[in-house]
Order: sequence, then structure tokens, then C-alpha cells
Amino acid sequence: MMTRPPGLERFENILVFDRVPSTQDLARQLVSTLDDDEISLPCTVVAARRQTKGRGRGDRGWFSPAGGLYLTLVLPVESLEAALHRPLAAAVLLAETLRETFGVDAAIKWPNDVLCGGRKVAGLLLEHVARKSGAGSLLLVGLGLNLERAALVDGGDATGAAVALDELTGRPVGFDEALTAVLRAFAREESAPRSREAILARWRELAIHRPGDELRVRLGDGRESTGRFAGLDEVGRLELETAAGVERIASADLVP
Ligand code: BTN
Repeated sequence: MMTRPPGLERFENILVFDRVPSTQDLARQLVSTLDDDEISLPCTVVAARRQTKGRGRGDRGWFSPAGGLYLTLVLPVESLEAALHRPLAAAVLLAETLRETFGVDAAIKWPNDVLCGGRKVAGLLLEHVARKSGAGSLLLVGLGLNLERAALVDGGDATGAAVALDELTGRPVGFDEALTAVLRAFAREESAPRSREAILARWRELAIHRPGDELRVRLGDGRESTGRFAGLDEVGRLELETAAGVERIASADLVP
């Protein structure tokens, strides 16, 4: 347990581990065993300095050596429908934090990869879990942020597809510093959430995509679709203009 720095009061429990299999899986276990009428888990943070079984989107792994920040936030959600834009909101918060606190030129690749100079610096994994009490669901916001270039090189990132915060800032960025900055941004947003419209407008400003850009997406069932970026709809789904008309896509991966 770390001492709670100012600005983090919103997070009732902040658990910091040296090593866990996956903060996402640990948060899920906490919710399934603890969250009930007496112990309420939102808003809880599970953070780790390294993970041995980090998970990425689409059943991929997430390489998680020391030299990164790995955390999962447990947040309340009113309804699944009302939470559709939350993956985009998480990317907005993370990109804003990197820009405002660390002065780096962070941008968003749909849906919620955070890039600097075209290289991925952070990834987000959002999952819902039903509450033990049966009353609604919780959102697990999993976030991995690369802090040290050396850790990426050790992990075999020879091509430089990924980038770390120390390369971008020209100075070491410690785990505690990064954790505090990220949590402050999420705590502020939980206390005074922006409207869905405001979040989507900010996402558009920070995105690397412009109307007409060609995109290829791979859906959960493996089907691929090619089209042009036409924007986001009112709940945050990707609008892809294809030969067959505009497809609205809530969740998929962009194919490079
Ligand atoms: C992606 O594929 O881009 C999403 C990566 C999300 C990784 C984070 S690290 C903390 C949390 N725990 C996990 O096992 N995964 C997420």
C-alpha cells in the first residue's frame, strides 16, 4: 500500500505489487471475491512493477518487464450502454497526461493505443465484470505504459515499434512518478466527468486519423473490413465508410 499523494483521494484502495501475473486478472479476482455490500471496490487501483502474464487486447500477451507501469483501475459504471465511450475516454486521459505532465507529443490510434511519433508508448485493455451483489457492473481499465527504453530492447523490440517515456523526455521517469500522474488524471475525471460529447470531441483532436484515411479493421470473429475513416458516431463507435455503406464498429483492431 502506498501513501496516497494529494489528488488521489478518489481511489480508496491503492495496491502496489512488485510482481503479479496480471493486474487485470488480480483486479478481477478481487471483484469476484470481495466486492459486495460491505466491501465496495470502486475505486480501487491494482498496480505492479512487472507482470509475468500480462494480457493485451485480442488475446495477445503484454510484455511486462521491470521498467514499465502496469495497472488496473476498478471503476463503477452506470450501464454498459452508457460506458461505450469509456475506452476512448481512457485514451484521452492517458494522452493528455503524457502531453501535460511529461510534455510529449502523444496521439491516439483507434480505439485506444497511445503513440508518440508513430510508435506505441501505451496500451489500454477495458473489460466489464458483473458485481458480486448483482447490482450493475464494474469497469476494469488496464493500462500498460513503457517507461524505460532498455526494458523494451531486452524484450526484443529491435524495430523500435514501441517507444518508452525516458526516450521521449530525455530523462528517467520513475514508476511512482508515472503512477501518480496517471492516477491524478483518472481521479480528476471520476470526480468531474466530462460529457460523452466533450470526450469524443477531444478524442478527435488527439487522434492520428483524419476523415478519408484508409483503414483496415479486424473484427473479433476474424473478419476483416477495409474502408475510409468517417469519424465516430454519437456513442463512440468507429464509422468506417466501405463499398457497402457505413459500418459502425464498437470493438476491433486496426490491421497495420
Ligand atoms: C494492448 O493490447 O494494447 C493493451 C495492453 C494492456 C496491458 C495492461 S498492463 C496492466 C493490465 N494488466 C494486464 O494484464 N493487461 C493490462
